[in-house]
Amino acid sequence: MAARARLVAFLIGMASFLSIVAAGQIRPLPSGGQLPSGLFVHSIASMIRTDRNATTKASSDFGRIVEAAPEAVLHPATPADIAALIRFSASSKAPFPVAPRGQGHSARGQSLAPGGVVVDMRALGRGHRRINVSAGAGYVDAGGEQLWIDVLRATLEHGLAPRAWTDYLRLTVGGTLSNAGIGGQAFRHGPQIANVRELDVVTGTGELVTCSREESSDLFFAVLGGLGQFGVITRARIALEPAPKRARWVRLAYTDVTVFTGDQELLISKKASEAGFDYVEGQVQLNRTLIDGPESTPFFSGADINRLAGLVSRSGSGAIYFIEAAMYYDEATASSVDQKLEAVLEQLSFTPGFVFTKDVTYVQFLDRVRVEEEVLRSVGVWDVPHPWLNLFIPRSRIIGFDTGVLKGILGGTNPVGVILMYPMNTNKWDDRMTAVTPQTEEDVFYAVSLLRSAVAVGDVERLERENEAVLAFCTREAIRCKQYLPHYTSEDGWRRHFGTKWERIAELKAKYDPQTIMAPGQRIFQSSIASA
Ligand SMILES: Cc1cc2nc3c(=O)[nH]c(=O)nc-3n(C[C@H](O)[C@H](O)[C@H](O)COP(=O)(O)OP(=O)(O)OC[C@H]3O[C@@H](n4cnc5c(N)ncnc54)[C@H](O)[C@@H]3O)c2cc1C
Ligand SMILES: *[C@@H]1O[C@H](CO)[C@@H](O)[C@H](O)[C@H]1NC(C)=O
Ligand SMILES: *[C@@H]1O[C@H](CO)[C@@H](O)[C@H](O)[C@H]1NC(C)=O
Ligand SMILES: *[C@@H]1O[C@H](CO)[C@@H](O)[C@H](O)[C@H]1NC(C)=O
Repeated sequence: MAARARLVAFLIGMASFLSIVAAGQIRPLPSGGQLPSGLFVHSIASMIRTDRNATTKASSDFGRIVEAAPEAVLHPATPADIAALIRFSASSKAPFPVAPRGQGHSARGQSLAPGGVVVDMRALGRGHRRINVSAGAGYVDAGGEQLWIDVLRATLEHGLAPRAWTDYLRLTVGGTLSNAGIGGQAFRHGPQIANVRELDVVTGTGELVTCSREESSDLFFAVLGGLGQFGVITRARIALEPAPKRARWVRLAYTDVTVFTGDQELLISKKASEAGFDYVEGQVQLNRTLIDGPESTPFFSGADINRLAGLVSRSGSGAIYFIEAAMYYDEATASSVDQKLEAVLEQLSFTPGFVFTKDVTYVQFLDRVRVEEEVLRSVGVWDVPHPWLNLFIPRSRIIGFDTGVLKGILGGTNPVGVILMYPMNTNKWDDRMTAVTPQTEEDVFYAVSLLRSAVAVGDVERLERENEAVLAFCTREAIRCKQYLPHYTSEDGWRRHFGTKWERIAELKAKYDPQTIMAPGQRIFQSSIASA
């Protein structure tokens, strides 16, 4: 049978590959083929590890839901090493899967390569810094393996910084650009993928290509939000702006979702030239005691918490909403920031008296989740399963979603974790990129992130059932929601996810990864290996 023959061929191919690696020398394949690019394979042999220590580390991710071991892990020293590995697989008779792994902070096994080779991207930056700032031209060239926190530190040395951020900075450049990279600056600057000028990509055929909006633009647009399907990002040129020094960081409490979203939408409609916030997000707290969440510790005093508890009990549903926002400033604007903040707050309708303000450095603000990470680690609830669900919801359906999901399916629960809810402007997303937004004509959509942790026996199953119910609700109510950090188990699911983009994406896949070896953990394209 064809499938069986393919499997056997694959296993022989893999075994021969590994024996070559182990022996550190080049031999003809037992299947009769000559080793393509044998010299390169020889050069990367010493960078491949097949021991359990190495493969176990690459067998799971932050989600701790999916587990699958690779046959080997490549620790590349240069992008050319990655190209050599991919060329070897792509041109062999029995190609094997290859998955770049950044921090492995995916939730559902997206960076795994069962039966294949995981590329430990972080090895690229080891020993030398792959971050080059071009201050005059206003950009930074960062290796795909670099952490955003390190990009921040390097650019700050020049008084500059990227404009668009994720909430958490211990993620790699290549990892977030393969999704979109969203956060509270996206309403103004778009997601991180909208702030990239140029990329170096090792494609699924092992070619090293420099691409941009002008040059090899089909690859450029494919890779941004491309879920690792078309190649490996080894360098990204990211736009910079003058870095502010400090941030006024505020939380505003609401009991009414309509008032909450109304204020959020007012804030994201403001131009950079108007008085407004530079960062706008939001959170929902469903029936919380407000003492149990570590994320509350840095913001609220004991007295605040008592007042908030009173607010919760007055809110009929038990749910309260917070706008989280920040206004940046520096020495030159320090004297006017209070006035500017006051002017914005006057336009908003949060519950009177429920404004909480902190004043922090820009880095403290951007790196704020680090503090939460430390708290969670210290009480042992960081390395637990994370059955996260992230959705983009069209603006017109967000109140219905709130009623049916937050006050319905999840109503009255006390989840461990956070629920984020904030709007973004559709026109800041470039639809030529692979990243997907709700396919409607609406100019605003919401990100709703159910970032919940499983801390007790049975939590994973319960939270997954709730996730299923949430997705079923959207389908039943015909809410055109899209998953962010998407996960589907069938091709049909992916077709619906990509919608009108599907045909194009399939074409680009055939062009840049014809053997379907790249990032199999996304489970989008069935490779001949997987179907065997
Ligand atoms: C605590 C926490 C907070 C988060 N906050 C946010 C947030 O605010 N906003 C947001 O947008 N996301 C957020 N995320 C999600 C995060 O952006 C994604 O999970 C991202 O994929 C993680 O990056 P990583 O470097 O760990 O990638 P990995 O998990 O290692 O990889 C993700 C996918 O990209 C592929 N990949 C990795 N590197 C490359 C590369 N160089 N080139 C091509 N493909 C590559 C992998 O094969 C895999 O398919 C958060 C995640 C965590 C754990
Ligand atoms: C694997 O890890 C163990 C424990 O940390 C260590 O003793 C051992 O030498 C490691 N093996 C390899 C091959 O690195
Ligand atoms: C940074 O510059 C050095 C020296 O020009 C170059 O070798 C390196 O590839 C650059 N790194 C990145 C990520 O652009
Ligand atoms: C909130 O939680 C408490 C205890 O966890 C429960 O008794 C109460 O009914 C919940 N409230 C709502 C509105 O579901």
